[in-house]
Amino acid sequence: KLSLKVPNNELIINPKEIPSEWEKYAEAVQKIPKNIDLPMIIDGKKVYSTKKVKNLNPSNGEAIGTYQQADFSHAQQAIEAALKAKAHWAALSPSTRIQKFRDLETILLKWKYELCATSSVECGYNSFETYVEWAELLDFVRFNNYFYAELLAEQMGDGWGETNHLQLRPLKGFTCAVTPFNFPQAIGYNLPLVMALTGNTVVWKPSDDSVMSGYLLMLALDEAGFPPGVINMITGDGKPCLPTVLTHPELTAVNFTGSFATAKAFGNYLYNSEYPRKNFPRYVAETGGKDFLVADKDVDIIDTARCITQGAFGRSGQKCSANSVAIIDEHIWPDLREALIKETNSLNICNAVDKKCDVGPVINERQFDKISSFIERAKNDKNCKVIVGGNCDKKNGFYVSPTIIEVFTEKHELLSEEIFGPVIAIKTYKKFEDIVPIIELHNYRLTGSVISRNETFLEKAVPVLSQYAGNFYINRKTTGAIVNMQPFGGDGASGTNGKAGGKWYLLNFVSQGSITRRH
Ligand code: ALA
Repeated sequence: KLSLKVPNNELIINPKEIPSEWEKYAEAVQKIPKNIDLPMIIDGKKVYSTKKVKNLNPSNGEAIGTYQQADFSHAQQAIEAALKAKAHWAALSPSTRIQKFRDLETILLKWKYELCATSSVECGYNSFETYVEWAELLDFVRFNNYFYAELLAEQMGDGWGETNHLQLRPLKGFTCAVTPFNFPQAIGYNLPLVMALTGNTVVWKPSDDSVMSGYLLMLALDEAGFPPGVINMITGDGKPCLPTVLTHPELTAVNFTGSFATAKAFGNYLYNSEYPRKNFPRYVAETGGKDFLVADKDVDIIDTARCITQGAFGRSGQKCSANSVAIIDEHIWPDLREALIKETNSLNICNAVDKKCDVGPVINERQFDKISSFIERAKNDKNCKVIVGGNCDKKNGFYVSPTIIEVFTEKHELLSEEIFGPVIAIKTYKKFEDIVPIIELHNYRLTGSVISRNETFLEKAVPVLSQYAGNFYINRKTTGAIVNMQPFGGDGASGTNGKAGGKWYLLNFVSQGSITRRH
């Protein structure tokens, strides 16, 4: 059992500052295989499709290999493998499964450099960002074990001549995880892993932008001695393969992180009475955000500027928690504006594996085009002004410079649309009552923060503003929730608020059974 309540922050070091770490990271980057054709893994076996897709490095736009486009027949194979593996896996004692996850943890610790290098090359995150993600991945694995053991030890009340016991049973049938590119290992791995830990077997489709990371998890599971078929990975665009999974009568849970639009599309499959069902599938969906930071007039200007730039531009703004609107007291705006321009101009935008990289590329051409179209419209719009950044370049990789845009109107797409790139809108306010209408321009309720040194202001602001965020922060940035400290998720358009990284997240993937004995 884990004795620590606080994650092991010793894992988070900055390889840019430690020469021996940098050497190992850089060596792992060099060793990433070139031109590998990444297979799917179904029932522990490599499976290839006749349709291949290029896997691109977003830092230079070059292909680093290919992966398979799954169709309905691969989905069907993966479902069969998951159903076949189920009886044995579900019948293992929880402590046997926990031990398997400890073995997995050992492998993930050992493969640190390969994991971090893959995330940099395939997804464009700089070395430090990948180290932070790797630490989070290990926290998820450790704490889920710990949470599972704690939940299993939960005691029911006994009395009236009866003793009671609560079982946490695996769900019936098979489960499905569909995961995003933006934390390919922390979120990408956690979703299928948590379902497997609780005794379920899984059909997993990682994002088509992070298939190499997905493949590494499959290799790690094999190395740790997981039975074949517990997690089955299919790859590629979801349209040709996922409907087979989502309409299957034996499906019992979907764990999804991605866009609001995709989450709704999945919902249409899950709750459509046209499809025969043996169960009501559980649905955990973590979707987007339009995350706000409110700065009062009594703040430290430099610190506030850093909270904004780190929250908005980390991972090129490709976090559902990214700070995307800053709502600023008009009195501090002239000074804060200067500080923001200075902070933003100090960021190096380049290839993610470059030691000086602060902000890498965005993930792919589609996202680049979407983000740059917001910027282009803003440049031609008298209702807003680009105050720093605004450069978009896809000649050699997909680069969007960190961009801050001041908005002058009460309503604007930059105040209400999720952009998922390094772009933040600024809106100044005159009085406290102006703040909530800006947040209410959209239905996202994921993260938010308020910055102030004035306790009276905080006493007024926190009870009101915190209601608009599943994760609300006082005097810090909107990103960087920590496992077992800030269980993560929001409601409204941001999802079903399953709270990954918290103990009760696991209850989404078990069926509770009560056993009573009369004496
Ligand atoms: N859990 C991630 C964060 O809090 C998305 O930034």
